[in-house]
Amino acid sequence: VVRALTGVEFVRPTEADYDALITIVDEWWSGRPVRRLLPRLWLRHFAGWSWLARVNGDRLVGFAIGFLSPGLPGTAALHLLGVDPNHRRRGIGRDLGRRLADDAAAAGADRIEMVIPTGDQVALGFLRAIGFAVVADPDLRPIHGTPAHADYDGPGEDRIVLARVLVP
Ligand SMILES: CC(C)(COP(=O)(O)OP(=O)(O)OC[C@H]1O[C@@H](n2cnc3c(N)ncnc32)[C@H](O)[C@@H]1OP(=O)(O)O)[C@@H](O)C(=O)NCCC(=O)NCCS
Repeated sequence: VVRALTGVEFVRPTEADYDALITIVDEWWSGRPVRRLLPRLWLRHFAGWSWLARVNGDRLVGFAIGFLSPGLPGTAALHLLGVDPNHRRRGIGRDLGRRLADDAAAAGADRIEMVIPTGDQVALGFLRAIGFAVVADPDLRPIHGTPAHADYDGPGEDRIVLARVLVP
């Protein structure tokens, strides 16, 4: 257990944390159905690439899940990162992002990637604030004011691909 922010503990999850996590995610994403992006396999197989933020011993206030890409050498990915709406703007998100970046660098990655839906200004603002930038690509076109990939995740599912360069 590492203490950084006052009163917040950062711990590795285990699969046993899944039930607590899955019940709160849709609420943290303001009703966006994020639950479907979080089947149990993430905590079963990627717990060692994940972090939980807790207060008062066991109250979950944030989480991040990532992995080292098996297919793209040197690339890690941030799958999901969320913070309890009552604990935002305290630096918990930034700390979770830093922990994943440290894990990625320790595993030999030189970049960490994240894909977000177009129009998600909160995620975009947060990711830019913690050092991510839109990945250059000839296929990019402006969608809701940001260079994005049309139909990236299938018809109508436009996405912004961002990456943060990891300094060894
Ligand atoms: C995005 C989210 C994870 C940020 O968590 P957080 O703990 O509040 O973030 P931090 O306090 O570490 O913020 C770090 C920086 O990100 C930026 N930021 C955070 N929230 C922001 C917002 N709502 N709008 C614009 N920029 C924001 C700011 O620059 C902030 O620094 P500052 O507070 O000194 O200005 C949180 O709002 C959340 O869970 N949102 C819903 C889920 C989601 O969108 N997740 C996707 C994340 S990629």
